[in-house]
Amino acid sequence: MGSIRFEGTGCYLPPKVLTNDDLAQMVDTSDEWIAARTGIKARHINEGLSNAEMAARACRQALIRSGIDLGDLCCLVLSTSTPDTLLPATACEVHHLLGLPEQVIAFDLNAACPGFLVALTVARGMMLQHPDKKALVVASEFYSDLLDWTDRSTCVLFGDGAGAAVLSLAKGDFFVTGGTREGAEALYAKASPRDGGDFHVVKMKGQQVFKFAVRALQDAIADLLEQSGMTLGDVDHFVFHQANARIIRHVCDRLCIDLAKVFMNIRDLGNTSSASSAICLAQMDEQGLLRRGESVLMVCFGAGLAWEGLLFEW
Ligand code: UT7
Repeated sequence: MGSIRFEGTGCYLPPKVLTNDDLAQMVDTSDEWIAARTGIKARHINEGLSNAEMAARACRQALIRSGIDLGDLCCLVLSTSTPDTLLPATACEVHHLLGLPEQVIAFDLNAACPGFLVALTVARGMMLQHPDKKALVVASEFYSDLLDWTDRSTCVLFGDGAGAAVLSLAKGDFFVTGGTREGAEALYAKASPRDGGDFHVVKMKGQQVFKFAVRALQDAIADLLEQSGMTLGDVDHFVFHQANARIIRHVCDRLCIDLAKVFMNIRDLGNTSSASSAICLAQMDEQGLLRRGESVLMVCFGAGLAWEGLLFEW
């Protein structure tokens, strides 16, 4: 029982869509620049819901699709770098909104953009302690709340949304890779004005993160293939963090990965941080792209500078 099985997936995307043309009315940018440099055409923006409420909507869909009994859950893990509250964990509010039983422990996990993959790994560990139980994992991000809407170098990149999955333990292999490199100053948002300067605003050195992302993606893929003894041709689906379509295409070009096996939704969603890989899985599942037994290789990267990769059977 070494791997995880996705019993159900779900996602929530706020109804408000902000296009590149809308952004060009707000800052000195253009649809041409954003589309050519990032592959993004639009993003969803949350208005009126808390992060917990977005997360709960994605969870409800995943729970309904899984058909499980709420009493079967052992934990609710919320990946977010945009919590509603520092205390208690935003996951506790999601717990209340969903009416989960008392024995379900709920906690937040902040590993920035790779957070959903880290949360899957942590949830697997918790289920190994309770092999008869299931886990609810959700990644929900409210980046529009954390952006400087006058900074064209960041505000055009991010969007809001949530993705969730109900997991159980399964037979099979579960390969994990990841780590943290120098470069905390390349992508950050300060939590308080304590040290002076801006706080609660995303700052990014785009080119530095771009270079790290290209390296981390390749390293993670190589490590997962080595651990599993698989080749790129054996992998059925690739899901990479949706930060920039150029990063994904560049790495796929270099490694000769068939783009037909690579799921992308960045065009319409932008970068939703840790929610991006969760939403990708939910959309792939909804579109019937994932069949039992097929292999899925996922890699996400971001602030830290941190990355995480997983390889498992759907
Ligand atoms: O989720 C976490 C992980 N995040 C990432 O992986 C992001 C990685 N980085 C990137 O995706 C890219 O570096 C960006 C999309 C952020 C930026 O693209 P770039 O090709 O690296 O552009 P740049 O930062 O080198 O800027 C090129 C030019 C600059 O003007 P000058 O100095 O050449 O005159 C910028 O001021 O583009 C300018 N610029 C813009 N122009 C129009 C920057 N942002 C914009 C904009 N519209 N929105």
